[in-house]
Amino acid sequence: MRELVFATNNPHKLMEVRKATEGQFTILSLEDINCNEDIPETAETLEENASQKSHYVFEKYGYNCFGDDTGLEVEALGGKPGVYSARYSGPGHNHEKNMDKLLTELTGITNRKGRFRTVISLIIDGKEILFEGIVDGKILTERQGREGFGYDPVFMPDGYNLSFAQMSLDEKNQISHRGRAVQKLLNFLKTM
Ligand code: IMP
Repeated sequence: MRELVFATNNPHKLMEVRKATEGQFTILSLEDINCNEDIPETAETLEENASQKSHYVFEKYGYNCFGDDTGLEVEALGGKPGVYSARYSGPGHNHEKNMDKLLTELTGITNRKGRFRTVISLIIDGKEILFEGIVDGKILTERQGREGFGYDPVFMPDGYNLSFAQMSLDEKNQISHRGRAVQKLLNFLKTM
């Protein structure tokens, strides 16, 4: 089976992507290739951050690889937290504090529209290609469910009555931002 490095050590992302690519690719993590450094993620767009990750691995380790970056874009907050989703609650940030801040910022606001956007940068044989995946939905007023990670408990995709944190991995992958971007990546790789 063909191998591809996914420039992440986030166990949730790895699980999602390994499930989505099952039987087609062997997905190696940064740990699997003994890359123990923190890859810089210093840009101001998802595209540039994803690209920083894939370039880092390709240039230092020589593997065909892809990196991703995701942001939660909330309409009433002018697209925030966006590229700053991971660090939204400031120093000492974590998923719980980020969700608390989001719910606080949206207190009393009726427009709950938001979307997750993922950008994947693939580098294959030295060439870079970008893929995007978007899922529209709404921000709940309180957490629902225990699966997934990040903002999953407060995000309900359009057309569903469940938050991402109430879905199985397969259900989330079918419709999620990352699932959609990965599907585009796989369709592209099939043509090679
Ligand atoms: P990253 O920089 O791509 O790791 O993503 C930035 C932040 O977005 C993460 O720290 C999570 O809080 C959030 N995030 C990314 N993907 C997801 C997801 O699939 N569900 C919920 N939150 C996510």
